[in-house]
Amino acid sequence: MKIAPSILAADLADMVSALAVCRDGGADYVHVDVMDGHFVPNLTFGAPMARALALHTEVPLDVHLMVSNPELLLDEYLAADPAMVSVHWEAAPHLDRLLARIREGGARAGLALNPGTPVSGLADILPVLDFVLLMSVNPGFAGQAFIPYVLDKAAYLRTMIEERGVEVAIEIDGGVKETNIREVAAAGVDIAVAGSGIFAAEDPIAQIGRLRGLAREEKT
Ligand code: DX5
Ligand code: ZN
Repeated sequence: MKIAPSILAADLADMVSALAVCRDGGADYVHVDVMDGHFVPNLTFGAPMARALALHTEVPLDVHLMVSNPELLLDEYLAADPAMVSVHWEAAPHLDRLLARIREGGARAGLALNPGTPVSGLADILPVLDFVLLMSVNPGFAGQAFIPYVLDKAAYLRTMIEERGVEVAIEIDGGVKETNIREVAAAGVDIAVAGSGIFAAEDPIAQIGRLRGLAREEKT
């Protein structure tokens, strides 16, 4: 299981320390939650911030665009050279074009789904996706409780991916903690985002390895 700490749950006035936690804990990605105050009721990191973060870390960025009209902002975030970029199904009518632009920009292309959005409609688009991000909270804020039915969505999506024989990773985002990461792993999730599950822990650096270890126990 790959672990992507969400720096939204860190001290927002001290991103250098948040990036050091990701580096020292051996995080696989730095998860950057981009919110526009329109698609979601919160406003966070602009593209200049994403570019500044990229300059200060070697850990690959995972940019989660929770914005309306993502096509208008995408290029500016691609300039931060992220490893992964996800856009929301609910915000993007021209998904095929948008996903192609993410890939052309050198990042893995992901489709994010709110908790209430079904995975059953994804069969056709799976071949042009690198990953699906399943929201396990309603997007907008760190520190919310995990929504359990999203585990069933993950397991169903895992079956669809295997049936279609495609290489698509499943990422889960929201409320992941040491109390539920085993179930997350059992549902077939490849990448877990954790915000408060890491940054509110007593030792955030050690917590990254701890979460990964708990997930691994479940797999064996
Ligand atoms: C929610 C964000 C999540 C969130 C994760 O809108 O997309 O990435 O910050 O934080 P926790 O793990 O605290 O829910
Ligand atoms: Zn996120």
